[in-house]
Amino acid sequence: MGLEQEIEALLEVERFEPPQAFREKALWSDPSIYEEAAADPEAWWTAQAKELLDWETEPSQGLDDSNPPFYKWFEDGRLNASANCLDRHVEAGNGERVAYHWRGEEGEERDVTYADLHRDVQRFANALRDQGVEKGDVVGIYLPMIPEVVVAMLACARIGAPHNVVFGGFSAESVRERMEFSEAKALVTVDGARRKGKTAPIKPAVDEHLGDLGSLETIVVVRHTGIDCPMTDGRDVFYDEILAAADPECPAEPMEAEHPLFILYTSGSTAKPKGILHTTGGYLTGVTATHRYVFDLKPESDVYWCAADVGWVTGHSYIVYGPLANGATSVMWEGAPDYPHQGIWWELIERYKATILYAAPTAIRTFIKWGAEIPAKFDLSSLRLLGSVGEPINPKAWLWYHKVIGAERCPIVDTWWQTETGAIMITPLPGITTTKPGSATTPFPGVEAEVVDESEGEPIDEGQGLLVLERPWPSMLRGLFKEDERFVETYFSRFGSERYLVGDAARRDGDGYYWVIGRIDDVANVSGHRLSTAEVESAIVAHPAVAEAAVIGQSDEDTGQAICAFVTLRGGTEPSDELVEGIRAEVAKRIGKFARPKRIVWADDLPKTRSGKIMRRLLRDIAEGRALGDVTTLRDPDVMAELEAKIAEEQDED
Ligand code: WT7
Repeated sequence: MGLEQEIEALLEVERFEPPQAFREKALWSDPSIYEEAAADPEAWWTAQAKELLDWETEPSQGLDDSNPPFYKWFEDGRLNASANCLDRHVEAGNGERVAYHWRGEEGEERDVTYADLHRDVQRFANALRDQGVEKGDVVGIYLPMIPEVVVAMLACARIGAPHNVVFGGFSAESVRERMEFSEAKALVTVDGARRKGKTAPIKPAVDEHLGDLGSLETIVVVRHTGIDCPMTDGRDVFYDEILAAADPECPAEPMEAEHPLFILYTSGSTAKPKGILHTTGGYLTGVTATHRYVFDLKPESDVYWCAADVGWVTGHSYIVYGPLANGATSVMWEGAPDYPHQGIWWELIERYKATILYAAPTAIRTFIKWGAEIPAKFDLSSLRLLGSVGEPINPKAWLWYHKVIGAERCPIVDTWWQTETGAIMITPLPGITTTKPGSATTPFPGVEAEVVDESEGEPIDEGQGLLVLERPWPSMLRGLFKEDERFVETYFSRFGSERYLVGDAARRDGDGYYWVIGRIDDVANVSGHRLSTAEVESAIVAHPAVAEAAVIGQSDEDTGQAICAFVTLRGGTEPSDELVEGIRAEVAKRIGKFARPKRIVWADDLPKTRSGKIMRRLLRDIAEGRALGDVTTLRDPDVMAELEAKIAEEQDED
């Protein structure tokens, strides 16, 4: 039988039990953990917080729900996140343990130990203070996948300066917006970034877009590529120079459990990104517990690799805080999955004997396309557990992952969560849960989810509805930075302040398993990256030839969803290939390359309601080739016929 047929045959197998060999050694293998947590979730989480973390002052209480939805956890506890990630491991004699096997694009290797991080974080924390950064000041971080990004994050945590990391794939213009909204006082960036053998100058773009930002007093530049880089006197400093000049000792300052740890901007329904705010004690409890038990992490023997970017929440929680708090050894890869060759991931797994891989379905689908013969060339026998995150994983991709990468030996944990939830919420426990390909299975202990109907919010036992989380959990967002009203409106207005509205549609099956379907708002999920359609629209209309644009997320074989833009040009402008490129370049400049539309449909007019609202629902129908939904509220029903003709024309050309 060929691989294709074997996977077809596996599609018939609907359930996968945890392998006996795995279950025997798993940290958790007794399902009673669910009942234990459900009996008193608050007490259970408080016990986790005390067991998994080092507190300067242990909290005397768990949840404070006196002012919903502004919940607090472990309020009178005091701790420092960087001390939990570093000092306690060094003090326990594990300073020489590798925290990151870093691998650069050109094959460079750096093993960074816990002692190395501890040394650099103390110095950088002092260096930031020398630059005038104080507790409560926001520090922006715009760096590629290099160990310095971890140093910068933990140095901020050490002195109580919330960090605001912006993914390196965002354009400098997006960085500016995020720095402006968060009133960042300092920014840590890099001379240039490497991407597939090329070097992109970063600092000049930062200067161009952020040079006049009033709040920004300091720009710290990491010399990574060594390219020439302009420096402004009195504002710009080199990372290595201020590190060398700083005092080597910086005792970790205990923070209140509710002290802000970071802000991370993510897309919402409007063009303005939301500043998701996470605090210290609850967040750290959530990521440490889930990282340990979802990945069954044994810090002495595992080599763990989360192949995300630190610029997204997956990186914050499962490259930095969770793994370091647990004393894990991780792999950190600077580059892309196809440079210097399409087998680089598998080469790294063989090289570092990785035991756990956590990746996105979009990457898995790409590997499927490249062919099973590529991973077959490498020794992947060290792997014992596989994870998936970012979007629903289709059963075929799940089975390929299971068979080709996991050799049918490794449980797969499909983890559902969000920037807002801070930590994994719905997931298998690998030593306990029987998995079903495509389902994230059931909530983590101490988490309660529900599928409810759209209008009344009544629980639906079996079938599709809106996904909600029923009670506060420690790592939940504490708000949107400086936007309390929007926070309440977005998550806690539809069903009240005691129920968190996720923004995803989901279905629950007869076994109580959750199947997440996708977003219900105007948010597209491209390769596991969340993008607001409104944000892309406003970038497109910035192009001088564009009169109006409507953007939707369209199903895509490779990236889950892809950006599809319906564009109306200004009078007298004719569609052309140059215009397509011009529009894509505009989006790359304003948001980032990853947000560029894959498909542009020229539309003379867009479907609008009588009040002028664009009906994206109809555009989604038309792009997916579905029968049109209700068109009776359209101002001009002819618009749809014209668009349908356009799409038919487009297909003829293919
Ligand atoms: C949205 C959150 C979680 C970190 C990366 C994305 C979708 C995420 C899954 C999954 C189905 C998933 C949801 C969610 N999503 N994981 N395992 N199965 N859907 O974080 O950018 O905040 O996006 O990603 O739609 O709401 P994010």
